[in-house]
Amino acid sequence: MAPRKIIIDTDPGQDDAVAILLALASPEDVTVLGVTAVAGNVPLPLTEKNARIVCELAGKPETLVFAGCDVPMKRKLVTAEHVHGKTGLDGPKMDDPTMPLQAQHGVDFIIETLRTHDAGTVTLCPLGPLTNIATAFEKAPDIVDKVQEIVLMGGAYFEVGNITPAAEFNIYVDPEAAKIVFASGIPIVVMPLDVTHHALTTHARVDAFSALGTKVGDMVAAWTNFFERFDKEKYGSEGAPLHDPCVIAYLIQPDLFEGRHVNVEIETQSDLTLGMTVADWWRVTDRKPNAMFMGSLNADGFFALLTERLARL
Ligand code: BDR
Ligand code: CA
Repeated sequence: MAPRKIIIDTDPGQDDAVAILLALASPEDVTVLGVTAVAGNVPLPLTEKNARIVCELAGKPETLVFAGCDVPMKRKLVTAEHVHGKTGLDGPKMDDPTMPLQAQHGVDFIIETLRTHDAGTVTLCPLGPLTNIATAFEKAPDIVDKVQEIVLMGGAYFEVGNITPAAEFNIYVDPEAAKIVFASGIPIVVMPLDVTHHALTTHARVDAFSALGTKVGDMVAAWTNFFERFDKEKYGSEGAPLHDPCVIAYLIQPDLFEGRHVNVEIETQSDLTLGMTVADWWRVTDRKPNAMFMGSLNADGFFALLTERLARL
């Protein structure tokens, strides 16, 4: 099968960084048309810079990186330095990137790419707040029908929230954008915390990254060690969840995941549950299913795939 054409929309973030590396290491499965940065884990000037750092680390400085929206559609930006550190990529010291940032706005790149490709041939892979994607849909409604699929990291149901008791970070930061995306009618695959909390960086898995004996292996091990400290303390787990690489792993090996096609609505009104992804897992309403909401992961298979692919870089 020909590789799937994708746009990675991202707010790196150590786990975003690993997702980008996995995609760039897998040309037989995905062609990365571009990487669009969005404000999220840290402000936009850092997320776009981090995206370029990661592409250079992968040895792919020819990758097109764009800066998108710097604030959510209707709200003030909430960031997550408490998890990812001040730069968003805290851990080992990284040199500033030398590859260029594209002049075009990330939203316009998304619009132009969908307009210039045949309908049903471009998949969107959001790994951060959905601001860029929803803004593109509002600005150019004609592109909505052209999207092949959206495979995103965001939301939580049984696992509940990580930024508030009810909400997962990516959806909480821009719930209005998430509402637009989930109402778009596009086929959506969701990697919620219910799944990503099984993608845990145990000692053995981090040792396997280091054992690659490459710069990429050392960097991923160091990033996950940094990123881990927060989740270990919070959840008492052996490691931290590698959330965003689940999106790319799904495109490569979908049978690692299982879920249900259900209705998912986004809470935008309540202060208490703002950004909650209300998934009708038990199908107790007659609301139309709009998303494949994943619920489980073959974690050993996931880490085997990730390690094997990172070894190529
Ligand atoms: C999500 O929020 C960010 O901190 C991570 O990069 C991931 O995309 C997890 O809630
Ligand atoms: Ca992210």
